[in-house]
Amino acid sequence: MNQISQDIIEQVRQAANILDIISGVVNLKKRGQNYFGICPFHDEKTPSFSVAPAKEIYHCFGCHAGGNVFHFLMEYEKMTFVEAVQSLGSRYGIEVKFSGNIQNQEELQRLRDLHTSTSNFYRNLLSSTEGKQVVVYLKKRGLSEKIIKEFQLGFAPGEWDRLLKLSRENGVSGNILDKSGLFTKTEKGVFDRFRNRLMFPIHNSGGQVIAFGGRTMDSKDPAKYMNSPETVLYSKSRVFYGLDKTQKVIRQEKTAILVEGYMDFLQLYQGGIKNIIAVAGTAFTENHVYQMKKLAQKVLLMYDGDSAGKNAAVRAGYMLMKGGMEPFIVPVPDGLDPDDWIRQEGVENIKEKLNLGIPIINFHIHQSKGKNMSPAEKSNFLREVVKEVAGIQDRIFRNEMLRLVSDEMKVNERDLLIIAEKENKKEKKWKVKKHEKNKRKEFSSRNEKAQLELVKLLAGESLDVRQQVRNSVKIEYFTSPILKKLAQFFFSNYEDFNYSSVIQLFESKEEREVVAEILLSLYQTDEVDRTIQDCVNSLKVGSVKRSIDEARIRLREKEREGSDVSGILFEISELRKKLESLSIGSG
Ligand code: UTP
Ligand code: MN
Repeated sequence: MNQISQDIIEQVRQAANILDIISGVVNLKKRGQNYFGICPFHDEKTPSFSVAPAKEIYHCFGCHAGGNVFHFLMEYEKMTFVEAVQSLGSRYGIEVKFSGNIQNQEELQRLRDLHTSTSNFYRNLLSSTEGKQVVVYLKKRGLSEKIIKEFQLGFAPGEWDRLLKLSRENGVSGNILDKSGLFTKTEKGVFDRFRNRLMFPIHNSGGQVIAFGGRTMDSKDPAKYMNSPETVLYSKSRVFYGLDKTQKVIRQEKTAILVEGYMDFLQLYQGGIKNIIAVAGTAFTENHVYQMKKLAQKVLLMYDGDSAGKNAAVRAGYMLMKGGMEPFIVPVPDGLDPDDWIRQEGVENIKEKLNLGIPIINFHIHQSKGKNMSPAEKSNFLREVVKEVAGIQDRIFRNEMLRLVSDEMKVNERDLLIIAEKENKKEKKWKVKKHEKNKRKEFSSRNEKAQLELVKLLAGESLDVRQQVRNSVKIEYFTSPILKKLAQFFFSNYEDFNYSSVIQLFESKEEREVVAEILLSLYQTDEVDRTIQDCVNSLKVGSVKRSIDEARIRLREKEREGSDVSGILFEISELRKKLESLSIGSG
């Protein structure tokens, strides 16, 4: 059930510019009429993701993702259909009104509203007398008024339930409070999750508050930082702190600096280094790699200068490397984090150090050299490194790295190659399996292929050709449900239709992707007449064959009943003749 009228959906669809929306997150290059880029929905090195601005649709030839501008937002931003319409509506200045049952959307909206009002509440408190100490604290840590404002820092008061009371007064329902992650439930009751904390609102890439991180103001509190749990709004492994503010610069520079902490982020940003992101309250994940890949090629890891920080940086670095990115480590002096470092040396000095990033493998090896390794330890270490290197898909790059390891560690390159090949095979097997699962068996029979050809002609640019197909083809010829639905649509809208609204007829993701692929792979043929004739013929053959099969079933039934079968026998022989003439016709 659609909760927004078709009319409004149509208005929004027409207003939205798919190229605009997608090029905001995917780097697209023009090739012919279409645009190509690295697919944001699967891991790849060469671009197979395409956008057809004229048709207002997208399709990935690698993973089969596809659809129109609404579907893109649904998949990329994890929005519901209604949210996608709303989001585009507000972007293009079209008011999106609801009708009917809207429970889920309403719930999401309420959760967003609660986060926004909570952020305002924390912010106001910070600038009130109650927040004075926190402001003093922030100033002492070197953050300016401007940064505090820009990142909407706030203060969560020390009482057990101040936010809870306020939210209840504002009429927020128990269900929403429950799902927001802003409160904790114990056997003693419900309480504010964040108390006596400096608050960092976490925004989605559209700039809406979806979660919080909070630093305690009580030096005795064992939990220095607390973060919102996963909620419907907040998926930790996808979100970077501050990305809403820095995505543009990162995309321009194709380089991102990754730090561990909120404070590190703010300190660099304040110093004018603006291509930063921070992982918020969780480890670096593969999902983070995918997100980063959409924005940048190079990543400078600026983790804390203790051994935990170095190990985490190496781990994240290898993940990025295997994801096809170029990770460098900018070593932070022992015992400091980027925040401390900047405050000690000044941001200008740090800016210079950014150019001295060390490629991940060199860093890893270098780090191990300080240790006096026994032969067994050395072997283990090498296996660890080679296992990571083996995960690099690009063979040349992979072998280059192995040579580097053998040079640096003074071991035989061939030994490393053997281990790497073994590891790589393991990985490949797994990849192939995954891929096979995604492979479709759509339109493989001769009959379906003919239907597909005809649909493509019906959907093509030439009005004459569309007419011609309409005149020679019957809807009954189509047996595949998807192709039949498409044919029906093009039969009745042959004069004027819009590709992106055709896709909208298909609600399931699988069907939609098939349709996007068809619409994106239209081509022109000079042999229209012959193509039509061949297809129609082969479909007629199919249709006659089906009639024969069906008559045979009736024949058997009649025989069993002992009734007269001469009529059916005649029918079958006529069908056979017809089949024969068709088969000759199709040569
Ligand atoms: P750090 O412990 O390095 O803190 O945690 P920090 O950023 O230097 O903080 P300050 O300078 O003492 O204020 C780095 C990041 O790890 C997460 C937070 O995101 C923090 O910014 N973290 C840390 C937690 O989620 N929970 C914790 O208890 C500690
Ligand atoms: Mn710190």
